[in-house]
Order: sequence, then structure tokens, then C-alpha cells
Amino acid sequence: MYSKIIGTGSYLPNEAVTNDELAARLAKDGVETSDEWIRSRTGIEQRYLASPNQTSSDLALFAAQNALEMAEVLPSEIDLIIVATTSPDMTFPSTACLLQAKIGADNAAAFDVQAVCSGFVYALTTADAMIRAGQAKKVLVVGSEVFSRMLDWKDRTSCVLFGDGAGAVVLEASEEAGILASRIHSNGRLSSILNVSSSIQGGKVVGNPFMYMDGQAVFKNAVSALGDVAQEVLDAANMSAEQLDWLIPHQANLRIIAATAKRLDFPMEKVVVTVNQHGNTSAASVPLAFDTAVRDGRISKGQTVLVQGVGGGFTWGANLFRF
Ligand code: UT7
Repeated sequence: MYSKIIGTGSYLPNEAVTNDELAARLAKDGVETSDEWIRSRTGIEQRYLASPNQTSSDLALFAAQNALEMAEVLPSEIDLIIVATTSPDMTFPSTACLLQAKIGADNAAAFDVQAVCSGFVYALTTADAMIRAGQAKKVLVVGSEVFSRMLDWKDRTSCVLFGDGAGAVVLEASEEAGILASRIHSNGRLSSILNVSSSIQGGKVVGNPFMYMDGQAVFKNAVSALGDVAQEVLDAANMSAEQLDWLIPHQANLRIIAATAKRLDFPMEKVVVTVNQHGNTSAASVPLAFDTAVRDGRISKGQTVLVQGVGGGFTWGANLFRF
């Protein structure tokens, strides 16, 4: 028994903000940056920002509807919803439960996965395990973020990197090969290099409510984690990198993506890159990139795809599947 992806979807908020526009906005608060710096250090050209009244479950709803439509599956047929998010609508209930109500998937169990930028890979791995264990037959997996809410717009080293968005897939139990191998990892000892360290205590936010990142430490750990975990899933499926049609790494920085491809000796023409258009959308980055490449005709049915995530925790992981 396999789990197979039968539909993909994504959604971006209306407001696209180019590097020049962002630089002009930040300059008003005395924060200096430029299109040249952002582009040359990260490959990012623009990002999308949600409007103040849009939540992660709102973005997730549109992405999920797209994916269900492609899969030709009704919300009532879904028996499990997993949402990967670091920017949930509420402390509780889960964003997955709120999405369940919005989409009308009344027969589904629903829960969130919190693994920051690896969230989608963690959620896909969980969904695959649930299907193969016979606990679910049709699963909706969504990565959705309004990450911009956690950014300190006075910290130019981090605020220029992120954007908002959502991506989704529908998985189905199948006898035909789908997900071939998955691996997930964590190292909580690296929690200090990337975090939002605040919590709510006695009705107050205690600690730093903004994202903190040691960019260079994250960069170094990301490159080695992505290289290693790609090899792990290839080994688990008894495959080599040459047999892959597409590599979809977490979309954080073009230099991290290029370094990962180089470590695998994998040609950049077969790497899906959307970080230039979307910025880093955390748990949404992989499903957004995947759906973009499916809908523009790059990825087609029957092809072999390796997706990978890395981020806060520290967490990392990969899934290898036949689409
Ligand atoms: O999902 C996982 C999340 N995060 C990541 O994947 C990010 C991983 N890290 C990175 O992508 C990179 O480390 C960054 C893009 C964050 C930074 O690139 P870098 O090449 O490591 O630059 P740096 O931190 O060494 O900074 C170089 C210079 C510094 O100036 P000085 O000290 O050399 O004078 C910074 O102050 O660039 C300056 N700088 C900026 N200048 C203009 C930092 N941010 C900016 C900015 N605009 N936005």
C-alpha cells in the first residue's frame, strides 16, 4: 500500500511587494536595504504579504480548494487534515480544525504540525504513515503561513527574507507507487539559532515576539542537512540522484538551493526555484513551489520528485515520490 499525491494547489495573497518597494517602506523607519543586496545574497526579488485580516486558515482554504479540485475529491471524502504552520490563527484550536470548518470536511480528523520550515515535509511524512497504517484513505496536507506577522521590520537581516502563502496536496491510498521514502530529523540543541522565543503568560506576551535568526549558522546547517537527507531518501528507495526528475528544496535562499544541488551533483535546470518570486514562506514554501511547477507544466504525472525542508527546531527532512 502506498500513498499517492492526486492533487496540488496553492494560494498567494494579493499584495506583491518588490525589493525596491520594501526598501522604500523600510527607509521610512531608518532601515537601510536595497534590491541589489537582497537579490545578490538571497535570490529574492519579491514576496507576497497577507492583508491584516487574512489568517493562515484563510490562505490554506484557497490552496486546499485548488488541490481538491485537481484531485476531483469532495471535502466530505477527506478523512484527515494536517496543516503545517508556525503562524496559526489562534493558540488553539488548531488551524487544521479551523480549515476543516471553512472547507466543510465534516468527516475528517484535523491537527497541526509545528516543524517551522520543515513543517510540510513532516506533515507529508505523517500523512503517508497514517495511510499506510490504514488510519486514513484520503488526506489533505497543507502548509500555510502568515509569517510576516512575526517579523521585526527594524531587523533588516531577517525581515527582507520572508513572505506569506499556502500550498496543499491531496493524498490517497493507492496500490500504485506514490511516496517511496521519507526521512525526518530534529536537533533541539540548535533551538537558539532560529526562533520566536516568546510565550503567553498571565494575559501578557513574555519574551521576544519577533523572529530571531543567526543567518550564517542557519545557512551552514541547512546546506549540510539538505545534502545529507536527500542522500538518505535516495538510499532508502535504492535510487540515485540521476534518476530524479525534479528536486524541490525548501525555498529560503538561492545560494542554499544551489549549494545543495552542487553537493548532490544535480543540475540546476532540474531544481524548482520559486524563492525569487515568493521569498521564504516557511511551511508553505515546498507545496507552493511544487504546485507552481505542476501548474506551469514543468512537473508531470509519473515523474520522480524529491522535496525537502529545513528550519527552526532545528528540523529537516525529505520525501521522495512518484507523482
Ligand atoms: O527557512 C530557514 C530560514 N533561514 C534561512 O535559510 C536563512 C539562512 N541564512 C541566509 O540566507 C544568509 O545568512 C542571510 C541572507 C540571512 C545573510 O547573508 P550573509 O551573506 O550571511 O550576510 P551577513 O549576515 O554576513 O551580512 C553581511 C553584511 C553585514 O554588514 P557588515 O557587517 O558586513 O557591514 C550586514 O549588516 O550585510 C549586511 N546586511 C544587509 N545589508 C543590506 C544584512 N542584511 C542586510 C540587508 N540589506 N537586508
